Amino acid sequence: MIWRPFTQEKTAEKPVKIVKGDGIWLYDESGKRYADMISSWWVTAHGHGDKEIAAAIAQQASTLEQVILTAFTHQPAETLVKNLQTVLPMRLKHFFFSDNGSTTVEVALKIACQYFKNRGDTQRRKYLCLEGAYHGDTYGAMSVSGKNSMYHFNFSEFFFDTLTIPVPETYEGVENLEASEDRILKNLEKQLQTEGTSFCALIVEPLIQGARGMVMYRPKFLEKLVKLVRAFGILVIFDEVFTGFYRTGSFFAMDYVSEKPDIVCLSKALTGGFLPLSLTIATDEVYNAFLSDDPKKALIHGHSYTGNPIACAAACKSLEIFMRPETRQKVATIEQFYRSQPLEGVGKRRTCGLIDAFDVGSPQTAKRLVRNLFERGIFMRPLGSTLYLLPPLCITMEELTWVYNEIQRALQSV
Ligand SMILES: Cc1ncc(COP(=O)(O)O)c(C=O)c1O
Repeated sequence: MIWRPFTQEKTAEKPVKIVKGDGIWLYDESGKRYADMISSWWVTAHGHGDKEIAAAIAQQASTLEQVILTAFTHQPAETLVKNLQTVLPMRLKHFFFSDNGSTTVEVALKIACQYFKNRGDTQRRKYLCLEGAYHGDTYGAMSVSGKNSMYHFNFSEFFFDTLTIPVPETYEGVENLEASEDRILKNLEKQLQTEGTSFCALIVEPLIQGARGMVMYRPKFLEKLVKLVRAFGILVIFDEVFTGFYRTGSFFAMDYVSEKPDIVCLSKALTGGFLPLSLTIATDEVYNAFLSDDPKKALIHGHSYTGNPIACAAACKSLEIFMRPETRQKVATIEQFYRSQPLEGVGKRRTCGLIDAFDVGSPQTAKRLVRNLFERGIFMRPLGSTLYLLPPLCITMEELTWVYNEIQRALQSV
């Protein structure tokens, strides 16, 4: 039997067996179709069954399916790294492959800690993170997922030491935002003045905390936060596993801030949602700290499928599609559409790039709405009392119009 993730198997509905995906649509055995409005956990970037990516995968599978990335390298990995460099800040130059969002975060945390150790600084062992953050489900990633995480409470006694920073949430109609941003930064500065030299890194989901419930905060706050921690010699990790690849309207969330990170984590939409792959990307300065005649100063970390050629080929094709001018245009068109849609009876509406999120009162209401929408052929998943849309980029304006009309009807009926 399949044991599903994030599912209480005793009370959950039976799963629907999906036999085919095409564009935004998922088809079940009876032929009923569901519009995938969350891009299957934020990975299906262009659309289900994208023909170009499928062809690139088939071509690579019959050429070179796998090779160990130690004594060898291969063209799809090299092309991917070269092409990603053209869309990333210049300072991010060294690409470490792994398989998913949690592992890219683990790698980033290990790099940050060992960076200082390799330089002879053994004091910096702690991490700064944001309240309510979500960076994955492995132990390191859980540890930096903020105190009182709604996902990881069963394991909290095992987590390593972190300092959690509150997040000044922004949404339609929010008040006193500047004042709360300033307060948070002032408090943090005070704490850093006493214990700043015990931290190796700050890790954040830049601008949007996805799994927390699409909680958004301003680029200005992030910029000030990065400047502040840098003044205390702390490295900065941006976890763009969710925000990367146009989710915020720009290629990366870091495009909105002048202070660029020392380490970046990418995954999810990297392969367009076809295969698991992730990258942890670091600056020269970070990378150089691992160069030594001492083998112990190497990054001693790796996974069996590191840099799998088929996954890299999918990522190369996905990136090529992302880099087309019409993709940027489509992102802007989708965001404009969201902003043109009034939604009656919802709270804390927040729209950014490909994401339109709103609150519906309680987690129970959110669940009822999701069930109601499922019956109408629309697949969404609540995050507490938040509902959100993040459809694949191939969605048409007709499909979006239909989805919003159905959401409005569901809101009225539940
Ligand atoms: C920001 C962020 N980081 C890391 C992860 C973990 O990714 P994965 O589920 O691929 O391990 C997620 C997953 O949602 C995420 O949103």
